[in-house]
Amino acid sequence: MSLAAASADPGFALYVHWPFCLAKCPYCDFNSHVRGAAIDEERYVAAFRTEIKHRAQLAPRRTVRSIFFGGGTPSLMRPQTVQAIIDAVAESWAIEPDAEVTLEANPTSVEAGRFRGYRAAGVNRVSLGVQALNDADLKFLGRRHTVAEALAALKVAASIFSRHSFDLIYARPGQSVAAWRAELNEAMALVNEHVSLYQLTIEPDTMFERLHQAGKLPMPDADLGRDLFDATQEITQAHGLPAYEVSNHARPGAESRHNLVYWRYGEYAGVGPGAHGRLVTPQGRRAQAAERHPEMWLTQVESEGHGLVENDLLTPEEQGDEFLLMGLRLREGVDPARFKALSGRTLDRQQIASLAADGFIVADDSGRVRVTAAGFPVLDSVVADLAA
Ligand SMILES: C[S@@+](CC[C@H](N)C(=O)[O-])C[C@H]1O[C@@H](n2cnc3c(N)ncnc32)[C@H](O)[C@@H]1O
Ligand code: SF4
Repeated sequence: MSLAAASADPGFALYVHWPFCLAKCPYCDFNSHVRGAAIDEERYVAAFRTEIKHRAQLAPRRTVRSIFFGGGTPSLMRPQTVQAIIDAVAESWAIEPDAEVTLEANPTSVEAGRFRGYRAAGVNRVSLGVQALNDADLKFLGRRHTVAEALAALKVAASIFSRHSFDLIYARPGQSVAAWRAELNEAMALVNEHVSLYQLTIEPDTMFERLHQAGKLPMPDADLGRDLFDATQEITQAHGLPAYEVSNHARPGAESRHNLVYWRYGEYAGVGPGAHGRLVTPQGRRAQAAERHPEMWLTQVESEGHGLVENDLLTPEEQGDEFLLMGLRLREGVDPARFKALSGRTLDRQQIASLAADGFIVADDSGRVRVTAAGFPVLDSVVADLAA
């Protein structure tokens, strides 16, 4: 499919949120919860079925391009739970023959032991949270696995899934450019076709935020952050894994189809505690969010037939803003004609010229607008200027 055709038809995806983890990592503000007792997975399966049926009533006759089990820690789900959810999807929608079915996994040996079961259930891609390639930093990040366990899990993943990816977090306190370059070069030898490289951010209401506020977590300044980002681009590019999005790198053709649906401003349903969705209904595009608290979500789904606490129509202006916010993260950039179709507005020529003169964006011959390497570190303000 050409770029123009692909970005005009971003497809339909389903996000499934599993909200439980064995422990809370000190940097993480995802909707993840630790429970002392066993999770009643059958009760959750029934609730997921109800949620999926509900979204299929709002968005019938779609063909699913991707299913993504995210978390939390979906690799704590039993394979039969994953299987039951995929079966429920197949009962509600058609599924593309080569649909991508991804599961996020933490690299402990217990979880890697389940990979074969996930594949039998229909998962065809695994994304592993490796986070760092030295034990001291894994400990600092509050991870419950060692480098050796992460490498073993990667090996198991590679023997079962032809498509797998892993995440690393960089720009850690005290990390030098030289140390990150060495670690990233080591990582490149482990990459199959895709890797996600995130700069550590201090998120609200996390342990790291409390430490940071107390002056106990010296974060890299903007210049060091930029040098680390530039080193990341240089090394990944040299290994044939250019960034296709701010933090995501793939061999051409191996991009995550799921994430492309989001960033190309496609349509997606989100099921599970705290899951978000964007569905195009006869009244217009809706922004949806489910109840975050797992047990409250369960109760609501059981009593009301869905877990949504937000289901709002987006104005054309809001759609234009979201489209820019998502699409400008991509190296392929955005098509101004689609911006106009969604928002009813035209991108301001003078604003484009001024941002281009500053080196933050380029407008190519086809008219697409892209953010440059210099623009990515200031992406939020570029988007704000373009959307103004
Ligand atoms: C849903 S999370 C984690 C999935 C899985 N539970 C795990 O921990 O491996 C997805 C990814 O976001 C990244 N991430 C989470 N919080 C972050 C933060 N504060 N800064 C940078 N990256 C973060 C991590 O790399 C993580 O693997
Ligand atoms: S980083 Fe992963 S394992 Fe850690 S709390 Fe967040 S979702 Fe859970």
